[in-house]
Parts: sequence; structure tokens; C-alpha cells
Amino acid sequence: MMSKTINGFSKLSKKAKISWLADHFFSNPDDISTEIISFWHKNEALQHIIDGFSENTISNFVMPYGVAPNFLIDGKTYCVPMVIEESSVVAAAAAAAKYWMTRGGFKTEILGTQKIGQLHFKWNGNPEDLKAVFPVFKQKLIEEATHLTVNMQKRGGGILDISLLDMTNLEPNYYQLRASFETCDSMGANFINSVLENFGTTLMALAKTTFSESNQDLTIIMAILSNYTPDCVVRVSVQCPVSELTGCGKLEASEFAEKFRTAVRIAEIDPYRATTHNKGIYNGIDAVVLATANDFRAIEACGHTYASRNGQYSSLSHCKIEDGIFRFWLDLPLAVGTVGGLTKLHPMARLSLELLGNPSAKELMSVIAATGLAQNFAALRSLVTTGIQQGHMKMHLQNILNHLGANEEEAEQAALHFECNAVSFSAVRDFLNGTVV
Ligand code: MEV
Repeated sequence: MMSKTINGFSKLSKKAKISWLADHFFSNPDDISTEIISFWHKNEALQHIIDGFSENTISNFVMPYGVAPNFLIDGKTYCVPMVIEESSVVAAAAAAAKYWMTRGGFKTEILGTQKIGQLHFKWNGNPEDLKAVFPVFKQKLIEEATHLTVNMQKRGGGILDISLLDMTNLEPNYYQLRASFETCDSMGANFINSVLENFGTTLMALAKTTFSESNQDLTIIMAILSNYTPDCVVRVSVQCPVSELTGCGKLEASEFAEKFRTAVRIAEIDPYRATTHNKGIYNGIDAVVLATANDFRAIEACGHTYASRNGQYSSLSHCKIEDGIFRFWLDLPLAVGTVGGLTKLHPMARLSLELLGNPSAKELMSVIAATGLAQNFAALRSLVTTGIQQGHMKMHLQNILNHLGANEEEAEQAALHFECNAVSFSAVRDFLNGTVV
């Protein structure tokens, strides 16, 4: 049997990597190599840039790039780019956007833009001695990092504050510097991490020159930004008189409003429902985050921590009906950038940003949050009226038809048939086999 392990894989050329994979993992190496290569971009220079985003790249993984038009956000109309593989997400966002367009649109407010970084270290001296010198240390930490912060300062950002946290009651000798940053239009990860590592060097030097010999050894455990950014938050809301909530299935406006409010309340009180509810919100958020080449893992991780900030995982969105007014809103921590990272390097991300009018990071926060709220509205509207399967499976019909190799005529007939019949894999297969007419 051929060994499936290899040394020096990363040093092989792209074609040699593909050959090795094809020979060792696939029963039809020639076909597989051709298929993998078929996804290379025809523009070689561009492919070279894309390959550079990661390591051991052998090809591209294609995802659909869709757009949801008619988003009215803070009085401005957007066509929102969305990269997502799940049927009905873009359609749902577009439907919700259109619905709210005639009801005042989405309103947003940036509640904060602070990012957080942490320097974790151990020191065996008396905590009070460290606390006493910390104001001087803080000044020095900021000064010594000037060469790294000067450009960010020119753009209106930089280090906002540094606190010393004594965590010795939780772990012997463990302290933390928790620093806050303003990183303007960049997500700021590289900036923050460079500054934090610089803090580490400065802190070790300060310990040497400040403390008595037995306390001069300070061990840096690690320096890294925190993806939890509870003070980098955007609030997005929609509201209208309850009487205007028309067109929601067969329900009267007031009945729909109350069912909708209850659905949100259930997500506030039950973590099982909250997880699915928030997943629906991230269907929209991740799609825009991906389309603009931002870090969706960081954004999801942060959002889920934020959703647990009161001790129990809960809904990110909320709904109130007061004095005949329906209000639905979402507070969302979102550390995104519109400069730096891949935002301008990835050709489709660049295109997405241009489609959005080259927004600032704050404006992008608003667009992303509005898409999340729209998605949540669309999901709940379906759930409390028709159920989601009807729309979802209709959208999925095309995938099933493709999977079963239906030709154009069969697909047209299937589309007609499933207008008024429930879609399922077996129902479509039976229809194509002629067992159903
Ligand atoms: C499916 O991707 C998302 C939903 O489950 C969200 C929800 O239940 O609110 C429809």
C-alpha cells in the first residue's frame, strides 16, 4: 500500500502537490487532477495572489456570490454582497430589506469602536509593588511603542488605555495588561499584536530596572488581541406601527406582531432556541463578512461570547411592542476593517467594498448588522407564519434537480409541479422517474 504521509509537501510545486494527492487519495488520479486544476483562475497573476493568502494551496473552493438589493440603511440605499452556500439566505435578506424599505428602513448607531488586547504575564513579587509603579510603567509602555503607533495616531487611532489586572487569586503570580485600542478603518489585529509584543519587551526591561534582584524576572506568557470586543458594537433597529405589519402570511398585523415578539422572547430565555436564532442572524452577517474578506471566525466567536455576557447564552436580537409600535433591534459586536488584511487584495472583496460605496469600518458595521437583522426578521417571519420548509425546499429544489442530473425540460416541469407540492429529495426523484405525475 502506498504511504499517505510525506515530508516536504509544502516545497513541491502546485502541480506536483496535486499529482501526489491524486495518486495517493483518489481512484481516478487523472480525472481528479483535471478537476482540481479546472478551478484555477484563468488569470495567472490573480491566481498567484489568491494562492498567497494561504499555504499548500492547490486550487480554489468556489462559493456563490450573491447580492441583496433594496437595503435602506440610515437613509442610504445599498445593494449588499453576500457569499453563502445555503439556499434561501440571500432571497430572505432581499425580501426583508424590501419589506422594511417601505417602513422606514434600518437605523443604526455605533455604540463604540474599541478593540482589546492582552499581555499575559507572571511575576513573583508583591502585587502591591507592581500596582504602585504601574502608572509610571504605563507611560513608558506607551512611549516605547510610539514607533508602532505613530501612523495609527495620525489616522485618529492608537492606544486608548492600559489597565493592570491582578489575577493572582485565580492563578499564582498571574497578571494581565488589558489594553484598549482605536484602529480606525482597519480591523487592527496586526497593529494590536505588534504593540502588545512591544509591551512585553518593555515590561521585562522595566522589571529589571525597577525591582529588587529577587523580583526582576517577569515571564511573558503571551501577547495577543482579544476577539471579544464588547465595546466595539453597532445597534441596528427597525420599527413601525403594528398596523403596518401587513403581508405576513394569513396573520392579522397585530397577531403577527405578538407571535413574532414571542418568538424573539423564546430565544431570549432558551439557549437551545437562542443558538438557532443567532445562527440565523449569522447567516446574514457571515455572508457579508466573507464578501468583504473580513474574519468571520473572529466575528462569530465574539458574537457568541457577547450573547452569553449575562451568564446565559441568549438572543442577540430583541423585540418590543409599546404604544402600538413594533420595534425589533440587535446590538452586535463587530470588529471589521475596510482597509488592510485582504480587504483590498482579494479582487472580489475589493469589488464588494466598491459596491457598498467604499464604506468606512463604521459604515460597514452598520451594513453588516442590518443584514443580520434582516435575516433574523425573514427567518422569524417564516417560522411564525408558513414555517421555513416551504420556502427553503423550493430554493433547494434546484440543488436536488442538479444532483439528480435533470435536464432543462425536466427542471421546468419539476418547478411547475412543486409549486403546489412539497419538495423533498425522494419526491423530486420520484417525479423525475415518472412515478409521480
Ligand atoms: C437556517 O439556516 C436558519 C434558521 O434556522 C434560523 C432560525 O431558526 O431563526 C431558519
